[in-house]
Amino acid sequence: MKKQILGLSIATAFALPVAAQQSVEVLHWWTSGSEAAALSVLKDNLEKQGVKWNDMPVAGGGGEAAMTAVRARVTSGNPPTAVQMMGFDLSDWAKQGVLSDLNELAMKQGWDKVVPAAVQRFSKFNGKWIAVPVNLHSTNWIWANKEVLTKAGVMTEPMTWDEFIAAAEKVQKAGFIAIAHGGQPWQDATVFDGVALATGGPDYYRKAFVELDPKALNSPTTEKVFERMAQLRRFVDKDFSGRDWNVASGMVISGKAGFQMMGDWAKGEFINAKKIPGKDFLCFRTPGSQGSVSFNTDQFAMFKVGGDKGAAQIKLASAIMDPAFQTAFNVVKGSVPARTDVPDTAFDDCGKKGMKDLAEASKKNTLVGSIGHGHAVPASIKNAFYDVITRHFNGQIDSKKAVAEMLSAAKN
Ligand code: GAL
Repeated sequence: MKKQILGLSIATAFALPVAAQQSVEVLHWWTSGSEAAALSVLKDNLEKQGVKWNDMPVAGGGGEAAMTAVRARVTSGNPPTAVQMMGFDLSDWAKQGVLSDLNELAMKQGWDKVVPAAVQRFSKFNGKWIAVPVNLHSTNWIWANKEVLTKAGVMTEPMTWDEFIAAAEKVQKAGFIAIAHGGQPWQDATVFDGVALATGGPDYYRKAFVELDPKALNSPTTEKVFERMAQLRRFVDKDFSGRDWNVASGMVISGKAGFQMMGDWAKGEFINAKKIPGKDFLCFRTPGSQGSVSFNTDQFAMFKVGGDKGAAQIKLASAIMDPAFQTAFNVVKGSVPARTDVPDTAFDDCGKKGMKDLAEASKKNTLVGSIGHGHAVPASIKNAFYDVITRHFNGQIDSKKAVAEMLSAAKN
């Protein structure tokens, strides 16, 4: 009998489950060299805390393919634990009641006080935190190869639109590709962000592309924005169609091309290639848009997955909001912290400029959400805008027709 009991208890002891390792499955679209390097900072941080990282990359800048993958996973009842998400996509998912409420943690850690209002607007739904912001990017930037510009005789940074066009002409005449661009709808729309801001200023931008005011949309200013997009088309090479954004960055880095008009994730690629701002490359705002910033913020939404995943989600959220992490990650990523209490000391000159520009723009109310990255209007309208911008960029419709189509996209 004794033996039996002993045998039983030993058997029970051995059958006891070993504490299951916590894990997170993270769906994201960070697959370029610098993006993957930045994500590793987060992954290593969690693994040090004993949380296993199951990586779920879905390639495709701007995240359209990733969002399609998320929809498929949620529809099949198997959402990932955490998903990189932006702008209006966050509230679209929150509306469906599938995102975890992070309010308790947010209150405990005082997120309300340190996250800029423009970011919170997307991190919260019905007043509650439903996402954790990892960064702040901005899209009205131009990246330039300094040596190419010198060879082409462009000795000063272009300050106005006309100066920029004149500089691009010089670079092209000197035998370089003037503008490295990837013809993908989201990239065309990213360029559009900067051109719209440079052409009409922040009040016009907000009225036309955020508030969808028909008068602002259907205006000579919008036509001028499209005319300028057509001007740019002359400066891209014949193989631009379908090219990935980081390949275009590579063309500027290697000295094949002079400029790239892209969000500051492009800076991540320059830094990853060991290039130094001011010495090897220049960063400046789309000429004419100085003083204003079109921004987007990458956030992580936690899906309601049940089981024992909740604790790991909280660890992930805390890790992201940690000020030291916000520095380490954003220095590599090209973005700036999503907290206002992080010093700029560790950042390079472009990063410091990014932080200063953002703070000033938010004070002066010249900070606007990126059209290209889902911070101006929800995905349904954003995608309709993409379609018009891309067809116009490829010469399928003229600028007048493009204005009319933007208007009807907004109405629908
Ligand atoms: C943006 C995103 C950035 C960057 C870029 C290219 O939408 O906010 O973090 O990764 O896409 O993939």
